[in-house]
Amino acid sequence: MQTIRDTVWWITGASSGIGRSLALYVLTNGGNVVLSSRNSEALERLAVEAGVSGDRYLVLPLDLESMEGIEIKVHKVLSKFSHIDFLINNGGISQRSLASETDIAVDRRIMETNFFGSVILTKAVLPVMIKQHKGHIAVVSSVVGKFGFPLRSAYSASKQALHGFFESLRAENVSNNIKVSIIIPGRINTAVSNNALSKDGTAYGMLDQGQAKSMSPDKAAPIIVKGILKEKKEIMVGGKELLMVYIHRFIPRLYYYLANKVSAT
Ligand SMILES: NC(=O)c1ccc[n+]([C@@H]2O[C@H](COP(=O)([O-])OP(=O)(O)OC[C@H]3O[C@@H](n4cnc5c(N)ncnc54)[C@H](OP(=O)(O)O)[C@@H]3O)[C@@H](O)[C@H]2O)c1
Repeated sequence: MQTIRDTVWWITGASSGIGRSLALYVLTNGGNVVLSSRNSEALERLAVEAGVSGDRYLVLPLDLESMEGIEIKVHKVLSKFSHIDFLINNGGISQRSLASETDIAVDRRIMETNFFGSVILTKAVLPVMIKQHKGHIAVVSSVVGKFGFPLRSAYSASKQALHGFFESLRAENVSNNIKVSIIIPGRINTAVSNNALSKDGTAYGMLDQGQAKSMSPDKAAPIIVKGILKEKKEIMVGGKELLMVYIHRFIPRLYYYLANKVSAT
C-alpha cells in the first residue's frame, strides 16, 4: 500500500467540510497538497492551521462552474511539484428543492459544478498522469449517486452522472496505471445543507435535521484516504444512512416506501 509522505494531492472543495479535513489529514501526514476552491482566504487559513512550510502546499483558487484556463493551473501545479499523484474531485453543491419548482438555471448550475467541473479538471490532469504512467483520481459522489431522493433531483442526477463517467474512465485507463475511486458519503457533519441551492438558486441556509449528530469530516477523512491508498473502487463513509444503498439494491420495495414517505412530509 502506498503511503502519504511526499506524495502530491490536488483537492477541490478544500475550503470547507470534507475537502478541508482531507487536506489537513494529508498535510499532517507528510503529503503535499494543492488547495482549490473559490474562497482563497479560507484556503490560506487552512494552510496556516496545518502549520506546514510553504513548499508543501499551493493555494490555487478555481471555480468549478467556470473552468476556462484550467491548463494554466495544471502548469502552475507542475511548476511547483513536478508531478501529481492524487486528484480528489470533492468540491460540489447540494440541493433542497422540488423538481417541479426548481428553475432550470439551478439544475444547470448543479450539473456544471458537480459534474462538468470535475470532468474538466480530470481531463486536464489525465494527460499528466498518462505521461507519468501513474496516478489516482477520486471523485466524491453521495448515497444519492446510487438512487434518487426527494428534493435532490438535479443533485442526484449530477452524482449518478459521475458514476457513469468515472467507471468508464477507470476501465479505459487500466493500461495507463491510473486508479479511480468513487467516494460515497452518507451524512457528514458539514455546511453542505447550508450551502445547498433552493429552487431559485439562493442558499438553503439551514442545517438538516440530524446533520449535527452525523459523522464529523475529521473522522471521515482518514477513512477516505485509507480507502484511496488501498485502491478501493468505491469507498462508503458515514453512519447507518449508508444502509439505504443496500435497501435500494436488495429490498427495493422498502426503498420506494421510505422515499415516498419523505416526499409526503
Ligand atoms: N456532507 C455530506 O453529508 C455529504 C454527503 C454526500 C456527499 N457530499 C459531497 O461531499 C463534497 C463536499 O461537500 P461538504 O459536505 O464538505 O460540503 P461543504 O462544506 O459545503 O463544502 C463544499 C466545498 O465545495 C466547494 N465548492 C462549491 N462550489 C464550488 C465551485 N463552484 N467551485 C469550486 N469549489 C466549489 C466549496 O468551496 P468554496 O465555497 O470556497 O468554493 C467547499 O469547499 C460535495 O461534493 C458533496 O456533494 C457531502
